[in-house]
Amino acid sequence: MAESKVRGQTSRRPLGKTGLYVSPLCIGCAPLGDMPETFEYGVDEDRAFRTLEAVFESPINFLDTAASYGDGESERRIGEVLKKKGGLPEGVVLATKADRDLQTGDFSGEQMRRSVERSLKLLGLVRLQLVYLHDPEYESFEHLMAPGGAVEVLRDLKAEGVIEHLGVAGGPIDMEIRYVETGLFEAVITHNRYTLLDRSAEPLLDVADERGVALLNAAPYGSGILAKGPDAYARYEYQEAPEEMVERARAMQEVCRQFGVPLAAAALQFSLKDPRIVSTIVGMSRPERIGQTLELSAQPIPEELWERLDRLA
Ligand SMILES: NC(=O)c1ccc[n+]([C@@H]2O[C@H](COP(=O)([O-])OP(=O)(O)OC[C@H]3O[C@@H](n4cnc5c(N)ncnc54)[C@H](OP(=O)(O)O)[C@@H]3O)[C@@H](O)[C@H]2O)c1
Repeated sequence: MAESKVRGQTSRRPLGKTGLYVSPLCIGCAPLGDMPETFEYGVDEDRAFRTLEAVFESPINFLDTAASYGDGESERRIGEVLKKKGGLPEGVVLATKADRDLQTGDFSGEQMRRSVERSLKLLGLVRLQLVYLHDPEYESFEHLMAPGGAVEVLRDLKAEGVIEHLGVAGGPIDMEIRYVETGLFEAVITHNRYTLLDRSAEPLLDVADERGVALLNAAPYGSGILAKGPDAYARYEYQEAPEEMVERARAMQEVCRQFGVPLAAAALQFSLKDPRIVSTIVGMSRPERIGQTLELSAQPIPEELWERLDRLA
C-alpha cells in the first residue's frame, strides 16, 4: 500500500466553515441500518457492531447516518456502540439527518423536532454536531421553507444549541442548488450523481465551492455496482441499473483491468481526487471494508486510465 497516500486519506480537513475537521473518507451507515428493501441484503446487529468497532479503531473520524436508515435502526446500533465506548470518541464527527415521517409523509416543523429528539435518544447524545434536512425532494421547497416549517424549526434547534451545524442532503441537483443558495446550510450531500457513471452533480459542486459550503459526495459506487462489479451487483441508486449503464460499467471494468486497477479504486478515487469535495461517503457493512477502502484509496492510477474512463462516461 502507498503509505503516504493512505495518510493523505486519513488526515483532517475543514468541513467548510463549521470549524469541524474531518477525514476525506466518511463511513456511510445506511447499510448498517439493515435495509434489505434498499440494498437487497440484510445486515444483522452483530455484523453492524463489528463494523462500527472497526471504524472507531481506524484513522477515519467521520460517520454519516440518518433518522430514516432502517427507520432508526442505524442510529440505534451506533448508539449501542457509543454507549460501550462511553460516548462519542474525542475528534469523531457524527452526522445524522432529520426525516419526514416515513409512514405518513409528514414533513412539518413538528416532525423535524420529533425526528431530532428520536436521534438524540437513539444515539445517546445530548447534542448533534451536524444535522441535514434529509431528502427534501419529498416535499415542495415552499412548504419546507414556510414560517414554522421544517427548515425554520431546524434553525430553531440550532439556536437552542441542540444542533451545532445544519446541512441539506438530497437527490435532484437543481433542488439542492436552490437550498444551498438560501445561505442557510453549511454542508450539502449529493449522492449517486458524482460517480464514474453519472456526473450530473457537477453544477452543484461549483456552487458549493463558490459559497464555501462543504460538499460531501455520497455513494461513489452508485450504491454498489462500482464496488462489487456490474455482474455481481447490477444495481444503481437502489434499483436495477439500466442495461446501458451496466454495459458502460462493464467497459470501465475492462479498461481498469488492462491497467491492473480495481474498478472500485477508480470509482473511489474519482471522488477523492476532486478538490471541491470535502469528504466522500462510502457505505459498508463489514469490518474488513475499512482496510479495503484505505487500500483502494491508495492504489496508484495512471493519468491515461482517467482519460480512458472519461471517454466512457
Ligand atoms: N440522501 C442522502 O443524504 C444520501 C443518499 C445516499 C447515500 N447517503 C449516504 O452515503 C452512504 C454511501 O452510499 P451507499 O451506501 O448507498 O452507496 P455506496 O457507498 O456507493 O456503496 C455501498 C455499497 O458498496 C459496497 N462496498 C463498499 N466497499 C466495498 C468493497 N471494498 N468491496 C466490495 N463492496 C464494497 C457495500 O457493501 P457491503 O455492505 O457488503 O460492505 C455497499 O453495498 C450511505 O451509507 C449514506 O450514509 C446519503
